[in-house]
Amino acid sequence: MTREPDSPSPEQIPREKVTLRTLNEMKARHEPVSWLTAYDYPTALLMDRAGVEMILVGDSAGMTVLGLETTLPVTMDQMVTFTAAVCRAVEYAFVIGDMPYMSYQVSIEEAIRNAGRFMAECGTDAVKIEGGARMAPVIEAITNAGIPVLGHIGLTPQSYTQQGGFRAQGRTEAAGRTLIEDAHVLEQAGACAILLECMPDEVAAIITDRATIPAYGIGSGRHVDGQLMIVHDMLGLFERFVPKFVKRYANVSPILLEAFSQYRSDVKDRAFPQPEHIYSMVAGEADKLQQAYGASATPAS
Ligand code: KIV
Repeated sequence: MTREPDSPSPEQIPREKVTLRTLNEMKARHEPVSWLTAYDYPTALLMDRAGVEMILVGDSAGMTVLGLETTLPVTMDQMVTFTAAVCRAVEYAFVIGDMPYMSYQVSIEEAIRNAGRFMAECGTDAVKIEGGARMAPVIEAITNAGIPVLGHIGLTPQSYTQQGGFRAQGRTEAAGRTLIEDAHVLEQAGACAILLECMPDEVAAIITDRATIPAYGIGSGRHVDGQLMIVHDMLGLFERFVPKFVKRYANVSPILLEAFSQYRSDVKDRAFPQPEHIYSMVAGEADKLQQAYGASATPAS
């Protein structure tokens, strides 16, 4: 993808740590936030360098990285490993740890303890939890523990069976009203921002306009305070299904496939390694070794 001639290069983007204050100021001046998922150090490093303002270490890692069918088996320990790697790479972006299934639903105490692990063991800026109004007490408790929490409503993959599968939410007036009310309740509970997943533009627009906190979208149209995309979707690295709202910015699978195939051929043909990839012994030492061990110590040419 080529950059427009007048858009700033990553080096020209003003660099300051993105904080909640930055995000609120961006909402106030209607500047959309760019937000991506990342699960590892090198990817997060490049996103941060590109000026992406927010990074979610999503439990989508279960599907994109671990090859699971759903996000439900993802554990807190796995999330801590992914999130710590991302935090080590990021200097500027606002990093959010995604609380996995059953890390916040069982009790308020467990929810606070697990949210605290993201902050203390990884160094995140906030955590995210899925669910509507019923999650208000959890959001309130985590917030009261001094941890910023993003709410997440609409399609919530951890409750996909309850929602009848992975499908857009809020497509009727009644369902839209429920989402609008959910967003309001989560804001009242202290959520620092809210993510709207897979809902009609019209519903997301009403939520965004009414909210005094930022409302971001993934698959929720244009009238939101910023866009989230799953990195494997935008890079063509997740082949199982491609949601309607995904825009592919690169297709790296064929590039990787070609590199792996080329490497395999080079190894088979002994075209790799070449002399520049090979260590040699200190001058005169190889001769001594050959005297001691014979010709087998002479590398094949
Ligand atoms: O885990 C994740 O990446 C998410 C997005 C699907 C919103 O929660």
